[in-house]
Amino acid sequence: MTNRKSGPETLFCKTTLITGAAGGIGKELAKIFAREGYDLILVDRTREELEQVRDILQGFNLNMRIFILEQDLTEHDAAGKVYEFTRTRSLQVSVLVNCAGFGTYGFVNEIDNSKELEMLQLHVMTLYRLNRLYLKEMLDHDDGRIINVSSISAFQPNPYFATYGASKSFILQFSRALNYELKEKKKNVRVLTVCPTAVKDTGFKLTAGMEYTRAFSSWMAVSAKDVARDTYKAMLAGKDVVIPGRGFGLLRSLVCRLPTSWLMRISCSQLKEVHR
Ligand SMILES: NC(=O)c1ccc[n+]([C@@H]2O[C@H](COP(=O)([O-])OP(=O)(O)OC[C@H]3O[C@@H](n4cnc5c(N)ncnc54)[C@H](OP(=O)(O)O)[C@@H]3O)[C@@H](O)[C@H]2O)c1
Repeated sequence: MTNRKSGPETLFCKTTLITGAAGGIGKELAKIFAREGYDLILVDRTREELEQVRDILQGFNLNMRIFILEQDLTEHDAAGKVYEFTRTRSLQVSVLVNCAGFGTYGFVNEIDNSKELEMLQLHVMTLYRLNRLYLKEMLDHDDGRIINVSSISAFQPNPYFATYGASKSFILQFSRALNYELKEKKKNVRVLTVCPTAVKDTGFKLTAGMEYTRAFSSWMAVSAKDVARDTYKAMLAGKDVVIPGRGFGLLRSLVCRLPTSWLMRISCSQLKEVHR
């Protein structure tokens, strides 16, 4: 990767665009990129929350440029609007982080249908479109990184988390295949897929109505800071997939040898409510 400063980890044009940057993992990632000297484009759907994050980050470095964009990413052509925002300001995005997301939990037939359609729009259509738009730009400069936030749920079917898990499988399979193509074509653009286990200190579990499920009190639950730290390290190392948390990658490579029916049962037990 071309350097602006010395050091293998510095990108030529250090601008990171993060979706879902107003809270949780996205906000922790924004802090890391800010400390590492990147300019930032923060996208989320609430302006006040974005402004709060911007004020915190600006304290790290007064010279850093921070742009905020209030955008509901479930809207039709939301990705096009994000791209237009960066294009009209001549901002070259060197790292694209697709972190915005939410979950729907329960028996499929009882979940609000429109909520699940919005989730699919966000996790599949908007993410895909953002990948395509910025991939082209990155390939034109033969430089760039894309970080797509998937989930540990992406690896197997997940009863009571069926649509969410399936949407995250799309992210995992699409990102890994694209990264393979980029490597084979010897391009200097890479795609990293992030597959966190339950993250205990973000807004996710409340939004999904999962605060009483076993997963969030399990020993495998991690913090948003852990996820952001391991994601950044994995990006620098040029990894394909990261499961944040010490040893979880190794554990996953052992567990994935089990039959799918077993994995599905394990997932289902983790998604059970333990108390209310
Ligand atoms: N927490 C977990 O256990 C966990 C585990 C594995 C993977 N993940 C993934 O990690 C990512 C980040 O989640 P998190 O845990 O950090 O949850 P979070 O704290 O709820 O953060 C998600 C952010 O995305 C934003 N967002 C949601 N829908 C949006 C939309 N339509 N348009 C624009 N922004 C939108 C949210 O804004 P609002 O606050 O306005 O909704 C929020 O700021 C998600 O993709 C999630 O699927 C989470």
